[in-house]
Amino acid sequence: MFYFKFLWFISFFFVLQINFVFAAKQVIIIDNTLSKIELGQYYDDKPLSYNFFLKNQGVDKVENLTIETSCGCTTALTPRKFISSGKMMKVSIQSDLTGKRGIIYKEFVVNYKLKNIVKKKIITLSFSVVANIKAHHAKKLTDVLFNDKCGKCHATPAVGKKGKALFKAVCGFCHGKNGGGASARGFTSVEYMKNFNPKLAKNIIEKGTTDESMPGFLNDHGGPLNAEQVDSLIQYFLNRKKDYLRFIN
Ligand code: HEC
Ligand code: HEC
Repeated sequence: MFYFKFLWFISFFFVLQINFVFAAKQVIIIDNTLSKIELGQYYDDKPLSYNFFLKNQGVDKVENLTIETSCGCTTALTPRKFISSGKMMKVSIQSDLTGKRGIIYKEFVVNYKLKNIVKKKIITLSFSVVANIKAHHAKKLTDVLFNDKCGKCHATPAVGKKGKALFKAVCGFCHGKNGGGASARGFTSVEYMKNFNPKLAKNIIEKGTTDESMPGFLNDHGGPLNAEQVDSLIQYFLNRKKDYLRFIN
């Protein structure tokens, strides 16, 4: 009996140690290199929370430190704006995963001053997101992307724009500014151009994808665009197709 208890005790200790190893701090040194943080897989119904540490290994104090993120869905908070020589500071990241699918990259630009010289360091965070089909109350991208908080980037820039400018303003966030692809597919491949189907594309732009990873953009479906704007986007795709066909013939 004692022997089993002892075994149990040993294995318990072992498990604790493993946990301890996994919980090791991720420390990023402030220098002029690009740093990467790779995380695992997350469900879309809860925000991602992650902490890492910024370390100042130099002899001078890091001052005026701010962290910029490109998408308002992701924030990086710090308790102070400086890090003394040899010290570390915790950075807390939160990312709203609503509507995200697949592998996502987020860039953090750390702006700071060293001996009064303005510097920056870039940190890229990558993780993958899957839909939690068990979460019946998960927020839908359609319900949030065009509201006050998210819409200042994802909807308002569409106002008064058409065609290419409109694509760059609101589609580029997911499909790449020039349509080359980002978190969502690109439209510039030979295959896509050849097989481009304006009816199908129009339907998706107006109503969104069935899994709602892309919300409907037509105002009748809760989006920021009128029918004329959607038509201008289809025309933009068709013009690109024409250019492409002219190029290969
Ligand atoms: C300050 C402008 C801004 C705001 C506000 C903003 N976004 Fe974004 N969003 C972007 C940019 C820029 C991208 C392109 C990817 C990147 O650079 O992070 C993006 C990309 C996305 C994507 C595509 C997947 C990805 O992460 O790349 C989703 C989904 C998204 N945003 C959702 C949201 C939601 C939900 C909100 C509100 C909680 C929001 N965004 C607020 C600028 C913004
Ligand atoms: C929040 C991200 C997001 C935004 C913003 C967005 N899309 Fe999408 N879109 C997607 C996703 C995700 C898909 C599904 C295909 C994929 O997984 O890449 C898709 C699919 C499409 C398709 C169908 C592609 C096919 O396979 O035939 C078209 C066309 C399209 N989008 C056009 C647009 C246009 C035009 C805009 C701007 C009005 C836009 N999208 C804005 C994420 C987005």
